[in-house]
Amino acid sequence: MTVVEAQSFPGYPDFWATLFAEVPRAPFIPDTIWVDDSCGEALVALSKHTDPDGWYAAVSANAPVITQVNLGDVQPGQRGSFPSSSASQPSIVADMLHALDAQPGQSVLEIGTGTGWNAALLARCVGAHGQVVTIEVDPHLAHDARRALTTAGHNPLVITGDGTAGYPAGAPYDRVISTAAIREVVPHAWLDQLRPGGRLVTPWGTDWSNGVLLTLTLTEDGIATGRFSGDLAFMRLRHQRRSLYGWQPSDSDLEHAQISTTECRGNDLDRMLNPDKGTFAIGARLASCRLVVEWDAQGPLHHTLELDDGATTSWAHLDANLNDPAPFTVRQLGLRKLWDEAEAAYDWWHDQGEPLLDRFGFHSRAGQQWIWLDEPDNTVRTLGGSC
Ligand SMILES: C[S@@+](CC[C@H](N)C(=O)[O-])C[C@H]1O[C@@H](n2cnc3c(N)ncnc32)[C@H](O)[C@@H]1O
Repeated sequence: MTVVEAQSFPGYPDFWATLFAEVPRAPFIPDTIWVDDSCGEALVALSKHTDPDGWYAAVSANAPVITQVNLGDVQPGQRGSFPSSSASQPSIVADMLHALDAQPGQSVLEIGTGTGWNAALLARCVGAHGQVVTIEVDPHLAHDARRALTTAGHNPLVITGDGTAGYPAGAPYDRVISTAAIREVVPHAWLDQLRPGGRLVTPWGTDWSNGVLLTLTLTEDGIATGRFSGDLAFMRLRHQRRSLYGWQPSDSDLEHAQISTTECRGNDLDRMLNPDKGTFAIGARLASCRLVVEWDAQGPLHHTLELDDGATTSWAHLDANLNDPAPFTVRQLGLRKLWDEAEAAYDWWHDQGEPLLDRFGFHSRAGQQWIWLDEPDNTVRTLGGSC
């Protein structure tokens, strides 16, 4: 059996290697984990008892380990269609802990206990005089994490509940970290429960792109401000979870779709969809526009894009056949012309000098939240609604 030790992950700074060696991931991972089936179309159970080599290899790799599928509503032997809890990829855990910078003696709130491994790492960071509160929405996961933490000798307080509300009884916190991604609006409770001078770290995404890391600092006068970084795909807070397909028009609705063509070509699509190019900026600019891309949907280099906004029953479809020099066909329905809006956001990005992630920031003041470009007064979009 080959076991890759955590400290041998390439590119790890010594600090994290030492921390991961002191608080290994394996004791927090359940005996049954979930892995892709041979076709990559479903998730199947992998048992520590029947395939110990496979289990140890998965748990020791620098990759996420899926620990629950379909919100726990699937038994070993059945197939899962989506992950609903995981132990995150160790190098990303290290990146997030580095951004959080929790110090000995501090109090930390974590949202998304999962296996409890990150809570154990946090407990190690804050030491005996610090306090970690961690919240998990799923009672079974919370129970297992509580037990794993106790067995491994760590003492975070594990709360079962919806972490969106934070845990006021333990506030104020020096640090708040979410290990479930949020869509756009940072829950006000997290900011309210943060101590002035404190820091908040969360995976963050829009309907267009999921996601990046957002790191905020709360000033003495109650302004939370910060920057985006990285390229992370995290599962979202449960009530913000995206279904695989968005709002779909009925066949009779489709007969009324407006059909047009676009000047957009393959190169533009790449720039609109590539995380190293315009994807973040377009998501930052464009409100409530869910994107589903199906690469090679109709054969090699023949892609489809679907955009939808269920709230306004708006939908758009782009048929992008890169083998054909003819313009791509667009079909649009509903109050919003979503493809036109996406193109306008793309043009805006170009006009701004094609800014990448590092030029954008986030501000929250007096209950208002917005994304800015270069400086807080240069608003890209005000974020609405509750989280
Ligand atoms: C990526 S996993 C967290 C990994 C975890 N920190 C660990 O070390 O294993 C995300 C977790 O967030 C939980 N979650 C999702 N929505 C939540 C919510 N509203 N409140 C609390 N937990 C939530 C999920 O059930 C899942 O266990």
